[in-house]
Amino acid sequence: MSHDPLLQPYQLKHLTLRNRIIVTAHEPAYPEGGMPKERYRAYTVERAKGGVAMTMTAGSAAVSKDSPPVFNNLLAYKDEIVPWIREMTDAVHAEGAAIMIQLTHLGRRTRWDKGEWLPVVAPSHHREASHRAFPKKIEDWDIERIIEDFADAAERMKAGGMDGVELEAYGHLIDQFASPLTNELDGPYGGSLDNRMRFCFDVLKAIRTRVGDDFILGVRYTADECLPGGTGKEDGFEISKRLKESGLVDYLNVIRGHIDTDAGLTDVIPIQGMANSPHLDFAGEIRSATNFPTFHAAKIPDVATARHAIASGKVDMVGMTRAHMTDPHIVRKIIEKREDDIRPCVGANYCLDRIYQRGAAYCIHNAATGRELTMPHTIAKADRRKKVVIVGAGPAGLEAARVAGERGHDVVVFEAANDPGGQIRLTAQSERRREMISIIDWRMSQCEKLGVSFHFNTWAEAETVQSENPDVVVIATGGYPHTEVLSKGNELVVSAWDIISGDVKPGANVLIFDDAGDHAGLQAAEFLAKAGAKVEIMTPDRSFAPEVMAMNLVPYMRALQKLDVTFTVTYRLKAAEQSGNEIIAHVGSDYGGISKQRMVDQIVVNHGTIPLDELYFDLKPVSNNLGEISHDQLIAGEPQTVVRNPAGKFQLFRIGDAVAARNTHAAIYDALRLLKDI
Ligand SMILES: Cc1cc2nc3c(=O)[nH]c(=O)nc-3n(C[C@H](O)[C@H](O)[C@H](O)COP(=O)(O)O)c2cc1C
Ligand code: SF4
Repeated sequence: MSHDPLLQPYQLKHLTLRNRIIVTAHEPAYPEGGMPKERYRAYTVERAKGGVAMTMTAGSAAVSKDSPPVFNNLLAYKDEIVPWIREMTDAVHAEGAAIMIQLTHLGRRTRWDKGEWLPVVAPSHHREASHRAFPKKIEDWDIERIIEDFADAAERMKAGGMDGVELEAYGHLIDQFASPLTNELDGPYGGSLDNRMRFCFDVLKAIRTRVGDDFILGVRYTADECLPGGTGKEDGFEISKRLKESGLVDYLNVIRGHIDTDAGLTDVIPIQGMANSPHLDFAGEIRSATNFPTFHAAKIPDVATARHAIASGKVDMVGMTRAHMTDPHIVRKIIEKREDDIRPCVGANYCLDRIYQRGAAYCIHNAATGRELTMPHTIAKADRRKKVVIVGAGPAGLEAARVAGERGHDVVVFEAANDPGGQIRLTAQSERRREMISIIDWRMSQCEKLGVSFHFNTWAEAETVQSENPDVVVIATGGYPHTEVLSKGNELVVSAWDIISGDVKPGANVLIFDDAGDHAGLQAAEFLAKAGAKVEIMTPDRSFAPEVMAMNLVPYMRALQKLDVTFTVTYRLKAAEQSGNEIIAHVGSDYGGISKQRMVDQIVVNHGTIPLDELYFDLKPVSNNLGEISHDQLIAGEPQTVVRNPAGKFQLFRIGDAVAARNTHAAIYDALRLLKDI
């Protein structure tokens, strides 16, 4: 029997949890029509297969019609959800894991122009900064209705085979009642702490009456909003004790902070560059004060920190939620003593930022997450060993090498630079984004185990590649910065990479023309401003850095707003002209009728990359497919069989930014979906 604290079972009332690691509630935005269908189920079951003790499915499943699904939430108010839930719970239980679901009413943390277009309700008219809806002040009949809705939804979940339900009480309706900052009601539900907590306890009582005792009921709540005038630590401890003493709940799931702003949310769920496990001690204090089962998650990305959380007795169950999006098989790998093989969560927060902006959650460097129906987490061996030559050791090339290695192929990688990493190595130059290098380091160590051979400092020509007698050639050479975007004076500008890499000295008065709107522009701004430059970031877009997204923007703003940096939206740099030691920046606008000038001493252009594709075009005529990828076969998950030149001796493919400027996830997805069938 293992002595690893993480692998000890835990008895939660009648429920035996097989170890101490859970996936906490999160809505990956995979529902179809509000239902957890095949894709949702496959995602959830993969984590159960990977050994987690319990998965808390959904985040914020909506109990009422006026809790519109702002990030494609599950609709727990519909009876038709029960059979879908049943299929999911049966499949998870068959893998030996427990499964619960988080229920909520979002209150003001949503928008009225989603779902049924009903007015948003909250215990005051105050709008939430993040979602911007001005709520209706909740009435007595709303309160009665929503309490019933919670009980109905819990009953549906029990009928669907869930082991229990958790209430979301941070930033959502239950907490909007609890916090003095968002509750302006008089009478039974407003005023004193007793009154502000009444809604929470009414909901708990209604649920408990409906589901009985043999059903787990938990609350995930903020025990310190960290906001002046909000629920402070003292009230938080009092709330914790009352929850325990109510006898209605079976565990506490501790949150610290507030989520009404992007910055607040990012402190609750820290991203890369922020401290690991920042609220673990706080959760431990609650556990000591209550002596009650305590769960907690907040950037506990690695096994060592998780083990410490349990071994030190700070929590009973440790949440590793994003860590499981990156690697669903963490527990299995711990059991098999293969912790080194765990794909590390790098805190890039592509997953969470996407649900607020672009839909489904994807992991920046595990393209199989959320695509379990088509992409494998474990790569199957190929029937025939092939010689695969890969050119480029950035994220696309290394993923291609890893997957080809897992397939059992003989893999050779050529890389022009000294080190692997490509653009990721540049990104990781920034102290705050250093964790990104694990995307590369993990792949390098996997490739080493798989016997992939690397040739660094090697500029591969067509002959270099052909002399390997390959069956398959993958060009993953990436791109170089595209700065030639001006009508005049392109030779006067430098790229964001020039600044980030340190190849070009920072100017003193700098204009950054950020047409790509991705990390590179802001990262360059931070380098420049920290070096003492006055920086203006200009974009023709309606908002700046749209590709960076909400939570990733927070650390940049925290750095840039304190420095000499201004942001100008809706203007376009047209041309540049030397004038003595200075440069005249000619500025226009896509809206027309504007012609302005700025005097600066440095212009930085961030406009994506141009593919480095010379080698690809050199090899194209001698390949047997002439570079063609069948999109139908790619999408269907079938091997590539295009033959356009029967005399050619190898298949040739191009992936990542060597095709077109995209992002890390796209590069890795290109590689996985092509190579898994080679
Ligand atoms: C895509 C995504 C959606 C989430 N949605 C919810 C949610 O609906 N309710 C909730 O309580 N937490 C939600 N969370 C927060 C997680 O439960 C967890 O607290 C957070 O990710 C921090 O833990 P981690 O560092 O282990 O990932 C979400 C997280 C992610 C990544
Ligand atoms: S996108 Fe980043 S934070 Fe999210 S799971 Fe993947 S590595 Fe972790």
